[in-house]
Amino acid sequence: MNPFSRLFSAEASTGAARTDAIFVGVLAFSVVILLVVLVLVVGFAAIYRRGSKARRGDLPAWVSREVEIGWTAATLFIALFIFWWASSAQFSQWTAPPGALEIHVVGRQWMWKVQHPSGAREINMLHAPLGVPVRLVMTSQDVIHSFYVPAFRMKQDVLPGRYTETWFKALRPGTYDLYCSEYCGLDHSAMTGHVVIMAPADYARWARAQPDGDSLATQGQATFVSLGCSGCHGVEAKVAAPPLTGVYGRRVALADGRRVTADETYLRDAILDPAKNRVAGYAPAMPSYQGVASEEDTVALVAYLKSLSAPPATEAAR
Ligand code: CUA
Repeated sequence: MNPFSRLFSAEASTGAARTDAIFVGVLAFSVVILLVVLVLVVGFAAIYRRGSKARRGDLPAWVSREVEIGWTAATLFIALFIFWWASSAQFSQWTAPPGALEIHVVGRQWMWKVQHPSGAREINMLHAPLGVPVRLVMTSQDVIHSFYVPAFRMKQDVLPGRYTETWFKALRPGTYDLYCSEYCGLDHSAMTGHVVIMAPADYARWARAQPDGDSLATQGQATFVSLGCSGCHGVEAKVAAPPLTGVYGRRVALADGRRVTADETYLRDAILDPAKNRVAGYAPAMPSYQGVASEEDTVALVAYLKSLSAPPATEAAR
């Protein structure tokens, strides 16, 4: 809670509280500087006004040296502190805590499509549990959009051709506004929605009640078969294709000598743009699924590939 809470929307996430603290801190510092400068300007104008008897001339040497060094060092230190404070907050916004619930968002002209790990799908709505870190993995089907939830002080561009991510941990239940904050065409201003924060038990019940049935990974498995991926990547396939069990998070050696970590973006590229990162030791036999697999299919496929890395215990628990 801060003195500006009446001016701004509720601080509904941990990130919101931190962002507001930075804002209020920088504002308070600016006000102090403003007051100091104002007092000096007005004071000097009065003291050294025309006709006053105030002593004029050279200052003692210590004033021009020590005071100069002192205030320069102090301002530098404060500027560096503000930089560290704000940038560490921004960096932590890109790395979700381990074990965060993963929700996928696909932006398009002009709607937000959301896919939950349970398999539930929704449009222009995002249901999420209270007090649990939620990682959003996002992409766009067409142009640049930006996922903006003012109550979370959270804004992340959503780009075509790659995944961007952000995360939040909601602090209070409720319904919050969702906007697109990147001009994306005719109905940009209508590209809005709501984030609904509910108690974890209610979220679990909501996710189970959705008609979409299978989990995202299971949907991905079905897509894996229907698009023919299993023809080459299946256990009994005759074609030499990279093995996919445990691929997520693995270090992969590429044909051009690079080594990359197989994250979500890597897996997405492997499906839609296989020429970009060809795995060392394999012929370029993989066709691009651009235009064949939609962004939502790709999200499901990636979820399936990630589930192949899950330890058996997690699988059994489902
Ligand atoms: Cu999407 Cu503006």
